[in-house]
Amino acid sequence: MLLLQKAMVLGLRPVCRLRLTPSRLCIRACCTDDSFQPQHPSLVSSGNNYSARGWGLLGTLLGFGAVLAYHDRSCKAAQKSPRIYTREEVSSHRTPETGIWVTLGCEVFDVTEFVDLHPGGPSKLMLAAGGPLEPFWALYAVHSQSHVREILAQYKIGELSPEDKAPPTLETSDPYADDPPRHPALQVNSQRPFNAEPPPELLTESYITPTPLFFTRNHLPVPNVDPDTYRLHVAGPPGTKSLSLSLDDLCQFPKHEITVTLQCAGNRRSEMNQVKTVKGLEWRTGAISTARWAGARLCDVLAQAGHHLCETEAHVCFEGLDSDSTGSVYGASIPLTRAMDPEAEVLLAYEMNGEPLPRDHGFPVRVVVPGVVGARHVKWLGKISVESEESCSHWQRRDYKGFSPSVDWDTVDFDSAPSIQELPVQSAITEPRDGEMVESGEVTVKGYAWSGGGRAVIRVDVSLDGGLTWQAAELDGEEQCPRKAWAWRLWQLQVPIPPGQKELDIVCKAVDDSYNVQPDTVAPIWNLRGVLSNAWHHVHVCVTP
Ligand code: MTE
Repeated sequence: MLLLQKAMVLGLRPVCRLRLTPSRLCIRACCTDDSFQPQHPSLVSSGNNYSARGWGLLGTLLGFGAVLAYHDRSCKAAQKSPRIYTREEVSSHRTPETGIWVTLGCEVFDVTEFVDLHPGGPSKLMLAAGGPLEPFWALYAVHSQSHVREILAQYKIGELSPEDKAPPTLETSDPYADDPPRHPALQVNSQRPFNAEPPPELLTESYITPTPLFFTRNHLPVPNVDPDTYRLHVAGPPGTKSLSLSLDDLCQFPKHEITVTLQCAGNRRSEMNQVKTVKGLEWRTGAISTARWAGARLCDVLAQAGHHLCETEAHVCFEGLDSDSTGSVYGASIPLTRAMDPEAEVLLAYEMNGEPLPRDHGFPVRVVVPGVVGARHVKWLGKISVESEESCSHWQRRDYKGFSPSVDWDTVDFDSAPSIQELPVQSAITEPRDGEMVESGEVTVKGYAWSGGGRAVIRVDVSLDGGLTWQAAELDGEEQCPRKAWAWRLWQLQVPIPPGQKELDIVCKAVDDSYNVQPDTVAPIWNLRGVLSNAWHHVHVCVTP
């Protein structure tokens, strides 16, 4: 329904605009082929293009007919030999000042004037500025309609140079050279290893995060695993043989499917950094995403290997197939009690949103531990063993732990704190964005909320005045099973803006079904690694009269 509405708006708005814009009519009149039309003359741009004011003035001086005749000639000339641009030229047009250009196939479009008319909102179209539209259109099916292409055709200004080579590939000696291609909308926090988050306004567009937009947290180069030779080693109890499972073997176990939100311990670290410097990537609010995962249950696989709950073995350790230059691999562990509990639904997942896992997210098999910090969801899973102690991995013992704000790098004792497993209650605002201008009258606030350990979010409170007064938001998304609320709730609230208000300090906070609430400020939960950052989330906006 929403898509239909969007499609209608998309179809109607530019048509109205065309009718109201004489200069556009002039262009339509002189062009027979909709697939090539020159840049809208009201756009100020480089090269052979003209400004609307230029067209108007010329029309007045020489007469409209002369303009038509001139433009007719230039259109025909342009159709025969369209203006050629390089990818580099296109990528330098990504602001209203330079003009906003995009490509589709080999065609180049100047959409500067369309940005404000984009039915999904200007900020979404801006994500493609200076680059190809295909990765975005592939995600939002509403674009695959002929009238959308017709609208776009109005903005065509030329074509991409056929000689223009694809972006240079990385050196082969570079351990990251074989990393997979990524979606251009992702906001990259580090290229090597690749760490990136979806922009907030796309994060809560859908309950299930589109796979290409799912946040990525890699510590090492992405291994390229051959599914035909892949084997998962599952060590048996002492004195027994290990299992060596192929992908097909794993698929023979009963297939289990669940919706699970994954959140990195460092989500919203950038807010801690504002209080005092922390060590780690500057994640904003997007180190969290939700997918539908399918695979074998860990408890079934462990049972087949001969494991059962016992006193001497307490932790299930996982090793990834990604390694550093010394050969040391990513590893993590979870308590055996969680692993053996069918109700905890820990998965050895081989599918994400109905498809084989993409390489960045652990192809061919990863661990999914519902309700638990992302660090334990080991990707490219190579080995499982059951041990008396936690994994010896750096990421289990020397990272992903919380400390008091008074602990610094000189005094920290990593052995003194437990490794993070279940995460605390979390919420954040995704719309409007910090620093945005909103129109007076009413504002729609949107965001996500989630809690660890299967605790359901029961309420999200929103304030427009920095936390003095609150209103409860409407919770969207799937109802959750008690104690198994593995996925987030999206929420939104339409609130009237008090008359005369020039600025808003919008705040959100969530409550889970154990009545845990988020702390109000960051400073008391600050820690040297910047993990577990879950204070009330603030967004400051200006109100236009
Ligand atoms: N598994 C391996 N093998 N290597 C990694 O670097 N990163 C972990 C976890 N599993 C990691 C891993 C961390 S810290 C997080 S938050 C999640 O994967 C991120 O999963 P995603 O990239 O699929 O979002």
